[in-house]
Amino acid sequence: MAGSGLSDMVVAVSEAGGLGSLPCAMLTYDQVRSELETIRKQTSRPINVNFFCHPPPKIDPEAASAWRKRLANYYVELGLDPEAPLPSSSRMPFDRAMCDVLVQLAPEVVSFHFGLPDTTLLQRVKATGARILSTATTVDEARWLESAGCDAIIAQGYEAGGHRGMFLSQDVSTQVGTFALVPQVVDAVKVPVIAAGGIADARGIVAALALGASAVQIGTAYLLCPEARMPSVYRQALKKAKDDQTAITNVFSGRPARGIVNRLIREVGPMSELAPPFPLASSAIAPLRAKSEASGSEDFAQMWSGQAAHLCREVPAGELTRQLAAETLMKLKNR
Ligand SMILES: Cc1cc2nc3c(=O)[nH]c(=O)nc-3n(C[C@H](O)[C@H](O)[C@H](O)COP(=O)(O)O)c2cc1C
Repeated sequence: MAGSGLSDMVVAVSEAGGLGSLPCAMLTYDQVRSELETIRKQTSRPINVNFFCHPPPKIDPEAASAWRKRLANYYVELGLDPEAPLPSSSRMPFDRAMCDVLVQLAPEVVSFHFGLPDTTLLQRVKATGARILSTATTVDEARWLESAGCDAIIAQGYEAGGHRGMFLSQDVSTQVGTFALVPQVVDAVKVPVIAAGGIADARGIVAALALGASAVQIGTAYLLCPEARMPSVYRQALKKAKDDQTAITNVFSGRPARGIVNRLIREVGPMSELAPPFPLASSAIAPLRAKSEASGSEDFAQMWSGQAAHLCREVPAGELTRQLAAETLMKLKNR
């Protein structure tokens, strides 16, 4: 979960028997190296390292200026200069230099979001012996990923928090829910399927296994763990988020992602045609977010969350992993 988890979360989950995931999309090369070295000192269990692999967008000055204009009133309201230079987006696609870092540190599993990197980079990662995962949001994406060499497919349903992994389609309106997606992906591919989206307790895990999944990927349920890094306004919003308080929006980054609905999403989105392509939209949002989050206001805060936020438990990540596993085994035994 880019922006929300670092080495301590990974170590806690892996030591408890899960597959801890280090999200690298918002880390520099040095940060990735240092986080992986820290993890290696603290656990010898398998870990996953996750990257985005979006195509770098073309900068369109007119689109950028229209986006800034759409947000200008909010800048004025928050006492920010609408003409001030903007920070560049911190979301980086997997590239050659990152591949160099990865090859040296050789994690057991490498996962990608938004498709896969180009064949040369993918082959270099595969040559380390790492198992490759990527996210599919449709059966076509799952087939595409299998034929490109993925060892397992993450089937990400509509309920999921954070960015949709969609890469063959742009149409959010036809995205599929976890219950419908998982069995269809299971039927379509030969590799194992990992169910994701709305799974937050043993009931969800058992259901995913019954649908044919070999494992589950859980995001939102870990967001109230003390290891999750987030502004307090985000944490407070998660604690009270109900089932119908998230939406898929492109206003924070330019790509569809599910988060807790706030003023920015309501007034500018949830989907805005003005938002520049991923990750460029985030540059003009960054000052609004920073000001809002620092002042304890939800209005412009980025609060990724899935639809099952209400099921989050406020326990350390290792304990949560052990609880989920024990409760699932108990349910499977009693069937
Ligand atoms: C805060 C947050 C950040 C996320 N960041 C990433 C990421 O960096 N890479 C990725 O592959 N998936 C990311 N996801 C999506 C998760 O991998 C997963 O598909 C999703 O959390 C599953 O649905 P759930 O949130 O209902 O458990 C993120 C999800 C959340 C909630």
